[in-house]
This record gives sequence, C-alpha cells and structure tokens, in this order.
Amino acid sequence: MLRYHYRNLIPDKITQDLRTKILGRKIIYLDTVDSTNSEGRRRFTPEGEGIVILSEQQTAGRGRLGREWTSPRNKGIWMSILLKPDQPPDRIPRLTMVGAAAVCLALEIVEPSLGTKVQIKWPNDLLLGEKKVGGILTEMQVSGGKAQSVVLGIGLNVSLEEDDFPSELLMKATSLYLGTGRAYDREIIIAEILNSFEPLYQEFSGGSIAKSLTICRQRSAVIGRNVILVNKGIVEEAEVLDLGPQGELVVKLAKGDIASVVSGEISLRML
Ligand code: ATP
Ligand code: BTN
Repeated sequence: MLRYHYRNLIPDKITQDLRTKILGRKIIYLDTVDSTNSEGRRRFTPEGEGIVILSEQQTAGRGRLGREWTSPRNKGIWMSILLKPDQPPDRIPRLTMVGAAAVCLALEIVEPSLGTKVQIKWPNDLLLGEKKVGGILTEMQVSGGKAQSVVLGIGLNVSLEEDDFPSELLMKATSLYLGTGRAYDREIIIAEILNSFEPLYQEFSGGSIAKSLTICRQRSAVIGRNVILVNKGIVEEAEVLDLGPQGELVVKLAKGDIASVVSGEISLRML
C-alpha cells in the first residue's frame, strides 16, 4: 500500500505550498548525506539564512548528545534549516521548542486529528501514542560571544515500517504510518513546517517565545506527569508542573521543592 510513497521528494512541490518570505526559499536537496545538520554547518554563510537542506537518507543522522538517528531512504523528513538569529547564545536552545511547536502546527494543518495526537516530550522529542515519531536537534557555533550560525534539524518518521527500525528501537519508536495506518506526502508536511516555523521564529528573533510556549504547553506529554530526571548519571524523581517563560521545565522534586530545569544534558524518563 505504501509503495508509491517510497519515492523521491519533488522539491518544486514544496515550493508550491510555501507561504514564507525567507525559510525554504532556497532548498538544497540531496540523495545521501552523513547528516543534514553537518551539511548545514559546512554550507553555512551569513547571507544564507533560511536555506533548507533535505536528504532522502542520512548515513550518520544524529540526535541529542551524539546519539544515532535512524534515517532510511525516502521514508522520513530529514531536514535542517540554517538560521542566523541575533540573540544571545544562551537563548538559542529555546529554538528547539519553537521547532517542535512548528511541527505540531504543521501536522494539524495537514490533518487535524493527527495534529492533536502528536505530543512534545520536553525539550526535543515528538511523540505519537507515547512512542517517538520525531525530534529536533538545534546546534550552534559561537564565537565572540555570539551565535555565528545555528542549524535547526528536524527528523520526522513518515512512512517507516517496523523493519526499518533497529530492533532495540521498536518498543519506543514509531512513524506517522505506523501510528495512523495512513500514508502522507512529505512535501506538504515540509512546506507546512516551514510556514508554521517562520512566524514563530520571527517572534523568537524579537526576544519572545510566548506563542511557541503556548503550543508546547497544550501539546506537552510531560506536564502533570511524574518523570525521572537524568543528568550526568544523577537520577531524581519529579512531578512536572509547567513550562516556565524561558522554556525551562518547572518541576516539584520528591522533597517538595520547586525547581527549574534547563534542557542542557538532561534526559527525561516518563513514569
Ligand atoms: P532524551 O529524553 O534525552 O531526548 P532520547 O532517548 O529520546 O532521550 P535523543 O537524543 O533525543 O534521545 O534521541 C536519540 C535517540 O532516539 C536514539 O538514541 C534512539 O534511541 C532514538 N532514535 C533513533 N532514531 C530514531 C528514529 N528515526 N525515530 C525515533 N527514535 C529514534
Ligand atoms: C532527537 O530527538 O534527539 C533529535 C533528532 C533529530 C534528527 C534530525 S534528522 C535531520 C537532522 N540531521 C541530523 O543528523 N539530525 C537531525
């Protein structure tokens, strides 16, 4: 049933649906690359804001903290957006939440019922039915106290089937197809991600992430849940209360103290 969808992307079909001014106006479309984020870093120029890199497959796709990201040919959206925000480096990680919010909005536009099913596991995971369907990886290069380049990577499993995942991932990963039984054209999803991202990025560039946070709160998989916080081997149980104004996680620790957690090296395990 899905065979038709194991086809190459048609970049012109993305362009047709774009309503952006900057994002995706130039698309670099590749067949194979190590990682679209690495390619983004290699190709970055200060004038290149908004360039989008897409690849049919990645041979060394990566997640946070250097983890591997499975990226088989034709079956997912493996893309990176090149950005040059005029914001201090310590604010750049917030873009991960802006990206996650944009993907959720895009999926809702493509199919309203799908949009409401996808949730955000702070700060960077996209879940469908408690399994991971995608993720965001924001990387930057800093010099002279400024972010010289930012590459925002988005991975979304569109039509992967069970045998596309390594066996150890089967329990925790899914795709739009596995989660809904439906096939989706990648082009329209990519266009809507860019359409949704641009205004949220403009807000970020003006110093606020209020709209993105509203979306992230509505779609949060963790607010109200008990989780385990894992930080460099230190493990702590907490109840997630909210997202703070800077995108930090507000938690109640086991002893009752309220704490704010910034993303950094923290991993969350849901209880
Ligand atoms: P964290 O809570 O720290 O985000 P995580 O296990 O989700 O933990 P990430 O670094 O966000 O870790 O994502 C990378 C992990 O995602 C990999 O270690 C692997 O377990 C899983 N993974 C790899 N490829 C895929 C994929 N295509 N779809 C879903 N999950 C994947
Ligand atoms: C995560 O959940 O840890 C983030 C996964 C991000 C994967 C995407 S796929 C496109 C881009 N290139 C990469 O190597 N990673 C990101």
